Amino acid sequence: MERTFLMVKPDGVQRNLIGKIIERFEQKGFQLIGAKFMHISNELAQNHYQEHVEKPFFTELVDFITSGPVFAMVWQGEDVIAKSRLMMGKTNPMEAMPGTIRGDFATVKSKNVIHGSDGAESAAREIALFFKEEELITYQKNIAAWVN
Ligand code: TYD
Ligand code: MG
Repeated sequence: MERTFLMVKPDGVQRNLIGKIIERFEQKGFQLIGAKFMHISNELAQNHYQEHVEKPFFTELVDFITSGPVFAMVWQGEDVIAKSRLMMGKTNPMEAMPGTIRGDFATVKSKNVIHGSDGAESAAREIALFFKEEELITYQKNIAAWVN
């Protein structure tokens, strides 16, 4: 089953959006298999965003992502990488569609509330960067057992 790395960024944590963001992916039917409330070190930030090292916004990006705690997660499900990107909306929240996380909750590109892996390769890399394999928990959902 496909996995992706999603993260509520420091602005999302500060604005109490962790619960709302988790809720969207739960409601969609994806499965949370790992989560960590943490501070990102400068080294981890540089590594995580290595593809952007030459970009003019890189320093600001690293400063921002290390500025406060984040909520890092691994989600699992069919086509979860592409589907979660759709649910997040475009990078620039002003271009993100209403109904998407960035479209509904954010206004500026540099503070756009959520990170999500953009492909299979980045998902594998980012999951390994933030989580040990034994921190990921796969399990069967059996809702009927809890409502009867
Ligand atoms: P990017 O990987 O292009 O976007 P996404 O998060 O949608 O995969 O960029 C990483 C982050 O860098 C982005 O979420 C916000 C920040 N950023 C800027 O601050 N300015 C910019 O012009 C771009 C493209 C990104
Ligand atoms: Mg990206």
